[in-house]
Amino acid sequence: MPITVTGDVAHLATEHSSYVIELAGSVRLLHWDDAVADDDLAMLSAHPPRPTGLASASLAPSGHTEIVGYGGLDLRSPSFAAEFADGTRSVDLAVAGHRVSGDELIVELTDRVYPLSVQLHYRVRADCDVIERWLVARNTGETDDISLRSCLSADVALPEAGTRVSYLHGAWGGETRLDAVPLPSGRFELDGRGGYTSHRARPWFALDDGHATETAGAVWSASLAWTGSWRLAVERGGDGALHAGIGMHDLDFDYRLSPGESLQTPRVALLYSAAGFGDSSRRWHDYARRHLLRKLPPRPVLYNSWEATAFDVSLDGQTELARRAARIGVELFVVDDGWFVGRTSDHAGLGDWRPDQQKLPGGLDPLISRVRELGMSFGLWVEPEMVNADSELYREHPDWVYHFPTRPRSERRHQLVLNLARDDVADFVYSTLDGLLRAHDISFIKWDFNRPIADAGWPDEPHGNPQRLWVGHVENLYSILERLRAAYPDVLIEACAGGGGRIDLGMIGRTDQVWISDNTDPYDRVELQYGYSQAYPPETMVSWVTDEVSHINGRSSSLEYRFHVSMAGVLGIGADLTGWTEQDFTTAAGLVAQYKDWREIIQHGRQYRIGTVPATDGVRAVQYVADDGARSIIFLYAHGRSFGENSVRVMPAGLDPDRSYRCNGGCFSGRLLAAHGIDLPVRGDTASTAVTLD
Ligand code: DGJ
Repeated sequence: MPITVTGDVAHLATEHSSYVIELAGSVRLLHWDDAVADDDLAMLSAHPPRPTGLASASLAPSGHTEIVGYGGLDLRSPSFAAEFADGTRSVDLAVAGHRVSGDELIVELTDRVYPLSVQLHYRVRADCDVIERWLVARNTGETDDISLRSCLSADVALPEAGTRVSYLHGAWGGETRLDAVPLPSGRFELDGRGGYTSHRARPWFALDDGHATETAGAVWSASLAWTGSWRLAVERGGDGALHAGIGMHDLDFDYRLSPGESLQTPRVALLYSAAGFGDSSRRWHDYARRHLLRKLPPRPVLYNSWEATAFDVSLDGQTELARRAARIGVELFVVDDGWFVGRTSDHAGLGDWRPDQQKLPGGLDPLISRVRELGMSFGLWVEPEMVNADSELYREHPDWVYHFPTRPRSERRHQLVLNLARDDVADFVYSTLDGLLRAHDISFIKWDFNRPIADAGWPDEPHGNPQRLWVGHVENLYSILERLRAAYPDVLIEACAGGGGRIDLGMIGRTDQVWISDNTDPYDRVELQYGYSQAYPPETMVSWVTDEVSHINGRSSSLEYRFHVSMAGVLGIGADLTGWTEQDFTTAAGLVAQYKDWREIIQHGRQYRIGTVPATDGVRAVQYVADDGARSIIFLYAHGRSFGENSVRVMPAGLDPDRSYRCNGGCFSGRLLAAHGIDLPVRGDTASTAVTLD
């Protein structure tokens, strides 16, 4: 049993860790660390962790509570705040009971005065050392509304020794850069606003004592499954105690619960690893694989036309690209933006999801037939939550976008955001996609989202509570994705948001792969992929091989290097194939064939960010090992090599020490390879090598 409750103490046990809470009055975390035995629980409860910092700073016995309600003398940043009908703006919650149901523990808290119940939910994902947490707030009264002003998914106490936080930050073109900073006294905060996950940060962080490495040391991390505005804050009080709140953003948040109504927050997954950042990442990959992603065969090699043609889509142009893509072994041909009426630029067309008959005479079907005849399946780009002011949809339904009647409707990329929280808009979006999938032989959808929500008004919201949109938009997005998946189980969906604006576990759980950045320069991409791998698995990470000279920064790189970078996840091609030489086609066909041979291991094996000698900034190596340890693939990327720097030694990981592996012309034991490494040749500016060990 992953959950045992002894007296007031609940023990949530995963394979390698224990999460122990006390349910007496308030809910307090006693231990989240290496596994403890049930015999230790009484000791933990008798000697709960106490802050070791300035005692005078502890104004209230706040300690390690699992929810920080706003009210009373607890002055920490709250994770939960409410206002009652009589104007009282404080909550006073006490444990009212608990129940265990399989791998789930539900702790019920009720307000001491008002009809408010808050259930803390814990689900144990023992096989990957994850505890999922979320809460359900319910108005149990009969007459008055309760306004929720803050409703995070969880607050969690962290070890005081935690002094460094690692996180993924960035901007458009650089979405998943890994950074690590010393934790300040006070607050470290990350967020995403505008109703989407954002380009500037991912809802994930990892904490360690400043000494954890890729292969050793305790790492506590958290990842939120939410595609709307979110925030997380790690806060250290003057008393030294450290805690983190994570969940839906409370900026402009006001969710009114009418009598009998409830709000369920998104899930946050908490993961503890005693064995460094690499182990932590592999557990995150396992968590996504086992509990969020669909069980699929390896994702197909795709071609995407965006960088080759932009809005200049035509039947002949796309057919020519498809012919060339088929020659190198592409399996899925995706037509990006520009295929629908009015879409000659980003000024018009969004919302009118009918093929442009001038660009595609006869609609989509003639193109789809040609793609199918070439032996590939067909995919299509859509951006269903958006509308251009210059569109039939907007002229017909100007009230369908978020807006305040007295303010200008701000446009980004000439587009406005449809109010997906409205059920009529959600019906329109579902029926549009259902119509496309029903009418055509489409195997793949790329779902884009190119601007944030702004002017977040909803004049006729039926509850008189327009701020519900922050929750309602994402709930309807999720429900559309889930309905589509149920109705069209063979259709793959790729999540995209103007590059990597929607990278989070909520989206990963409802789609099949993610476009992580519009930055397709392979050199930059190595760093983005390195960051992505910290928290998300390789089979969700799409990467395209694009033109020799990157459109984003003008850097040139070899075709082989571009392939080696894109082969480290789901391989895509996005280059203008009409400019390729015969030699390019031969090289590409060979590399695509190699990828197909390797992809089962790349997409479903264990991933290691391995060490190199020398270990310098310009060198990265990533390794994939089949689950049975029989085969492994290593990609080495090295940059700016100087005279005499002709090779790099990589230090393989995860091999079976007693097995023999063929590599570099010899046959060596896993033990020897791990101890001595393998010298791989790499010369030049942007250089790479890929090898197999089998
Ligand atoms: C942004 C995406 O990230 C690109 O890949 C492309 O689909 C464009 N949108 C199309 O408008």
